[in-house]
Amino acid sequence: MSNDKLIIFDTTLRDGEQSPGASMTRDEKVRIARALERMRVDVIEAGFPIASPGDFEAVQAVARAISESTVCGLARALDKDIDRAGEALEPAASSRIHTFIATSPIHMQMKLRMKPEQVLEQAVHAVKRARQYTDNVEFSPEDAGRSEIDFLCRVIEAVIDAGATTVNIPDTVGYNMPHQFGELIRTLIERIPNSDRAVFSVHCHNDLGLAVGNSLSAVLNGARQVECTINGLGERAGNAALEEVVMTVQTRQDIFPCHTGLDTTQIMTCSRLVSGITGFAVQPNKAIVGANAFAHESGIHQDGVLKSRETYEIMRAQDVGWSANRIVLGKHSGRNAFRTRLQSLGIELGSEEELNDAFARFKDLADKKHEIFDEDLQALVTESGLEAGNEWVKLVALKVCSETGETPHAAVTLWIEGEERPATSSGGGPVDATFRAIEKLVNSGTELQLYSVNNITSGTDAQGEVTVRLQLDGRIVNGQGADTDIVIASAKAYVNALNKIIQREERAHPQLGDV
Ligand code: KIV
Ligand code: ZN
Repeated sequence: MSNDKLIIFDTTLRDGEQSPGASMTRDEKVRIARALERMRVDVIEAGFPIASPGDFEAVQAVARAISESTVCGLARALDKDIDRAGEALEPAASSRIHTFIATSPIHMQMKLRMKPEQVLEQAVHAVKRARQYTDNVEFSPEDAGRSEIDFLCRVIEAVIDAGATTVNIPDTVGYNMPHQFGELIRTLIERIPNSDRAVFSVHCHNDLGLAVGNSLSAVLNGARQVECTINGLGERAGNAALEEVVMTVQTRQDIFPCHTGLDTTQIMTCSRLVSGITGFAVQPNKAIVGANAFAHESGIHQDGVLKSRETYEIMRAQDVGWSANRIVLGKHSGRNAFRTRLQSLGIELGSEEELNDAFARFKDLADKKHEIFDEDLQALVTESGLEAGNEWVKLVALKVCSETGETPHAAVTLWIEGEERPATSSGGGPVDATFRAIEKLVNSGTELQLYSVNNITSGTDAQGEVTVRLQLDGRIVNGQGADTDIVIASAKAYVNALNKIIQREERAHPQLGDV
């Protein structure tokens, strides 16, 4: 059996960012890109440069920061998009432009209002233009999963002739079935005369929960690149989860005629980092990275695993980075130990000031919590805001009274643009009272869409990690906060979301473009 390389193309920073509320700042994108590079991801899609000046700068910053992985930028099949992507990627050691146009009848007629011949011509033109910036060009016929096969073959043959080196087949709406999608890939490779001159890639959405299944079926039928995201983040129900694709291929080498070059021990670090930055908590029963993925509850299972791990485990937890969950530091640990542990987690603090700030928070936490785990450190650093200085509002103090039979009451002090301001409020519960007090000061007009609490580690002294989703004028952001006191964690999460909703620019939606 041949053992080809399966290229892993991560689109957490682009399609992942299209999840409502998951938008990331430039610095957050750079941090995630560094973690992906450490994991040896082959291609990092860093964003959609034409979407906004912020996205342009983020792609440019990732291009500057990354040297081992190829950095990719998305562009509709339009000159202005391609030129902007080319410009953003200029500093990259290795760059790729990913250009796309829809090929399904419904998208061509209803969205683009273009004839198939015009779409074909524009696709070819776009690839040729992208080749002026880089010889690494990817083309996607958007909604390929619902396109007519003859037209799809014509478009793909033409773009390969025009210089596309990767042809990516998206199941944009997550409509395909695994056997059908695999068959589609096989047919394309067999029927297109020049198919040997490009790598066939797939990009599957998870609307029916089949994104990973469809991607793997495509791999069995000749695809040699999979586009995926950490934790399966992405538009609507998300994209294929990187960790599931990679671990399936690795675990079932008896079936897959290919391998990835990834350092899978970095998976947990990447998962936590993405979850912390985007505010998208990982469900406990999520494959590979969920808190229960390697936990055995039933007595029969526990007994079996104690006798022989393979009775109920098909992978080793440490192969995906779970062993990192050990006591790392305590209240007597010094600054150097702290810095070294952060470095080994791949967390680089930009300045001494940021290190000092994070270390002070670590000491506060160590006073309240006996054992500090890697997860605590990650939450602490995410929350300590590597972007301190960009905040317009900070939590200074919070006092909450909650007593049986009494109305809960909160007294909050916020720092708002240089000034400390106090407010009090009552509410249905301590969290409600806190949020009302904060709102008295900021009057943001936002709507609370989601509130959730998770334990970062186990035990009653564990930190609670709170996610708050706020909506303002159609824009959605997720804020996160962690603390051993969940009301304080809630206040931090609320303030974090407020900072994001005020700072972030509105981003154009790549697939609602006016091609
Ligand atoms: O889902 C999709 O079709 C996309 C394309 C831009 C590849 O994200
Ligand atoms: Zn997509």
